[in-house]
Amino acid sequence: MTEQFDFTTTEHLLSPGGQAAERAADTAVFDEDTRADARRIVDRYPESRSALLPMLHLVQSVQGHVSEAGVAFCAERLGLGTAEVSAVATFYTMYKDRPCGQHLVSVCTNTLCAALGGDEIYRRVTAELGVGHEETAGEPGETGSLTVEHAECLAACDLAPVLQVNYEYYDKQTPESALDLVRALQRGEKPAPSRGAPLSDFRTVERELAGFYADLEAETAGGTGSAETLRGTELARQQGWSAPAKPDPDSAEAALPPLPEKN
Ligand code: FES
Repeated sequence: MTEQFDFTTTEHLLSPGGQAAERAADTAVFDEDTRADARRIVDRYPESRSALLPMLHLVQSVQGHVSEAGVAFCAERLGLGTAEVSAVATFYTMYKDRPCGQHLVSVCTNTLCAALGGDEIYRRVTAELGVGHEETAGEPGETGSLTVEHAECLAACDLAPVLQVNYEYYDKQTPESALDLVRALQRGEKPAPSRGAPLSDFRTVERELAGFYADLEAETAGGTGSAETLRGTELARQQGWSAPAKPDPDSAEAALPPLPEKN
C-alpha cells in the first residue's frame, strides 16, 4: 500500500498530534544517509530555506514522490512550516503527489506537438498502458512500471512531436515509435534517448536534480544539439548574417531614453 499526499485537508499540518506522527514517519522513511545528503544540500546555501527545491527532489529520489513524511522532513530540516513546504510541492509539476513508476513518460501535447501528432501519441500510449494522466501502469518503483503524464511545451518544438522519459528527450516521435518505446521500457530495456544523457530511472534522475551524480562525466558526455535546432545558425553563417553588437554600456546609445516630464 503506497502512501498518498492528501491535498484536500490541512488538518495534519496544524494539529500537534499530526505533526508528531509525521516526525515518526520522517524517522522511519529517511535514513541516516539521506539525512547526511540533506545536510550537504543545506550547506550549499546561505539561507537554509533556499534549499527547498533540491530537498524535494531528494525526497522523491527516496520515495518516488513527495509524501506527507517528505513534507515534514523538508520542513524540519529547513526550519519551515509544513504548509510552506506543501505550498511549493503542490505548485511545481515536477513534484509528484503519488509514487512514480520506474520511469516517468511525459508526452508533449502543447500546440506544435499536438498539431503534429502529440495528442494522438498521448491517446495511443495511455490506451496501451490503460492509465490516465499521472497514473502508473505496474507497481510504482518496480522494473517496467511507467507513470504517464501529458506535458506542456518541453522546449523542443523544432523536433516535434517529442516525449521525454525521466526528462530525457525522444525526438520526432510517431504513435508507433512511442508505442515501441513504452513497450521496451515495460520489458525493462532502456532505449537510448535522441540526445543528452543515457536513460536511467526516475529516482536516479531525482537524485541528480538534488545535485548528486554517480558519474557526472557520463551524464554530460552526450551531445544536445540537432540539425533542426542549429538550422538558423547555419543559415546565418551561409548568408553572412550576424546580430548587431551590443552597445558599450557607457555610451549614449546604450543610455535609457529620459522619462517624460510630468505635467
Ligand atoms: S510544443 Fe512540444 S516541445 Fe514545444
